[in-house]
Amino acid sequence: MGNCFSCLKDNVNGFCSACEKRLFDRSKVNPQLNFNWEDVSKVIDGHPAGFSISGVQTKGFIGKATGTELSPNLKDEENSIYIIKPILSRFDLPSDSPANEHVTMQMAKQLYRIKTAECCFMKFTNGTPAHVTRRFDYNKDEEKLNQEDFASILKVQKDNHGKYKYNAKSYEDFGDVLNSLNKVEFIKILIFNFLTGNGDAHLKNFSFLETPDGDMQLSPAYDLMNTKIHVNDSPIALNLFLEFERTSLPRGQTYTYTIKDFIELARRFKIGDRLVKIIVNDFEGTDDKMKKMINKSFLSNTAKKKYIETVDNNFAQLFKV
Ligand SMILES: Nc1ncnc2c1ncn2[C@@H]1O[C@H](COP(=O)(O)OP(=O)(O)OP(=O)(O)O)[C@@H](O)[C@H]1O
Ligand SMILES: [Mg+2]
Ligand SMILES: [Zn+2]
Repeated sequence: MGNCFSCLKDNVNGFCSACEKRLFDRSKVNPQLNFNWEDVSKVIDGHPAGFSISGVQTKGFIGKATGTELSPNLKDEENSIYIIKPILSRFDLPSDSPANEHVTMQMAKQLYRIKTAECCFMKFTNGTPAHVTRRFDYNKDEEKLNQEDFASILKVQKDNHGKYKYNAKSYEDFGDVLNSLNKVEFIKILIFNFLTGNGDAHLKNFSFLETPDGDMQLSPAYDLMNTKIHVNDSPIALNLFLEFERTSLPRGQTYTYTIKDFIELARRFKIGDRLVKIIVNDFEGTDDKMKKMINKSFLSNTAKKKYIETVDNNFAQLFKV
């Protein structure tokens, strides 16, 4: 018996029944996959359409199969209900990336009630770890929902190297298109990203998703992870403010974020003071809860230590008086 491969609940063999139902719509799914990453990448190579979801990291689409297994043998992306990511192909502690994304997503969901994509940790047949997420752009009837990321919504073009410039927009720019409820959720995600050391929350890591009423709302959060475990990147991906507080500083100077910055962004978003207080209180003093979940996660001991260091440093910085 160990921890549930999705919610990390104690004394579970594989997945707990609630997670099996939520993730797979059935019971008895084995977190041990009966295929390897090569079986997925083979399908990707054979079917270029399967690669249309953008992103830097390699990932593939897998689908449901009968019985108790997931299947890599999809004819096209349409049959795919899940996105599977293998370990990173470069950077530090690459084998820890699936467990890193998994525990970060679970903390967002369970500790702060941030709406997140459903996800779990799994293992390929050869024992290497994988991160699996259930696609939120398909509804229960497996109909495709419209999804549009913020590079496209904010009309940001690729640069000469084919990349989206981090500095083309600030998080404050998102306020132009988010409704009030979305703004509250967005501020929560930004504070969470800061505390968990996510320096990769770029324009394509936020999307709008079609609702049952047909309007577009902020999608569940995805691709949340502590990037500091793998790479020494900036504290947050984009600047918070229109005035580009961090990247406009002279070379060598650093911007030290505190909770006041996030409160200022909330004010610019016209979120009322009472609500801002509730949001901040929701995070303050919760470092122990985070550390408890990190210790229960599938991270290696070295990665757990690094993650806990990130949490300690970032809580101290954000909430220092
Ligand atoms: N659960 C999900 N449901 C639907 N779409 C998703 C889901 N998770 C991710 N996506 C989409 O797939 C894209 C790639 O996923 P993700 O950001 O997790 O991968 P990545 O390769 O790590 O990206 P990056 O370029 O940030 O490294 C996202 O930008 C998003 O559009
Ligand atoms: Mg991404
Ligand atoms: Zn569970």
